[in-house]
Amino acid sequence: MATRLPVTQRYSAVAIAFHWTIAVLVIVNLIVGIGHDAVPALRAWMPGHKAIGITVLALTLARVAWRLAHRPPPLPGFVPAWERGVAHATHWTLYALMLAMPLSGWAMVSGPQGRRPLSWFGITDLPYLPVDASGASAGHEVHEILGWVMLALVLIHVAAALRHHLILRDSVLLRMLPRAAR
Ligand code: HEM
Ligand code: HEM
Repeated sequence: MATRLPVTQRYSAVAIAFHWTIAVLVIVNLIVGIGHDAVPALRAWMPGHKAIGITVLALTLARVAWRLAHRPPPLPGFVPAWERGVAHATHWTLYALMLAMPLSGWAMVSGPQGRRPLSWFGITDLPYLPVDASGASAGHEVHEILGWVMLALVLIHVAAALRHHLILRDSVLLRMLPRAAR
């Protein structure tokens, strides 16, 4: 059964704040990105999709810099070695996607044709990336393919967290929950 953990075995408040802020923004962007073709109402959200995506890029750069200087608490001893390996690989692939998705999206909208002002929530206009038409179309291709890869990995990641919490009933998800939710 999930039990109280000593403070040292939990992720720190900074890690938890980064995790959940970025998770919510990425989930919104996956839904809006995948849905915007089929659901006309979501098309109006595309300027927000772009601004959220660039926010994710900035937050992820800060998170990775912070993470490289702060080791996470070790996984509980009952987690088998294979699962530690898979978790580690999944987490670093997610970090890579949190950088690659915004960068490829930004490249896609930076091509010389069809540029529109790239507004960050109406507060300021962002610059374009220095790419030509073929760079923009490569960005488009990468953005579409990695979007599906990211959706799949996020679903696996969430399923793994829920398996720990609901089936194995151990403390793995609690390590990442904000204090108020524990
Ligand atoms: C966390 C970051 C992001 C995620 C997870 C994300 C995800 C997605 C996904 C899943 C799609 C649908 C791909 C498809 O057509 O199947 C999409 C489309 C799109 N994204 Fe993003 N995106 C992100 C950031 C950005 C950024 C920063 C920009 C531009 C500045 C952008 C611009 C676009 C555009 C223009 C489309 C529509 C492409 C089309 O209609 O073919 N995205 N996004
Ligand atoms: C788009 C959404 C998400 C992304 C991109 C994401 C990304 C990540 C990353 C990169 C880590 C590794 C942290 C580190 O040690 O450096 C992590 C850890 C974790 N995530 Fe997520 N996450 C997402 C959503 C979720 C959701 C919805 C849940 C819960 C249902 C969840 C549960 C966890 C847990 C429990 C850990 C800690 C695992 C451990 O102790 O090793 N995540 N997440």
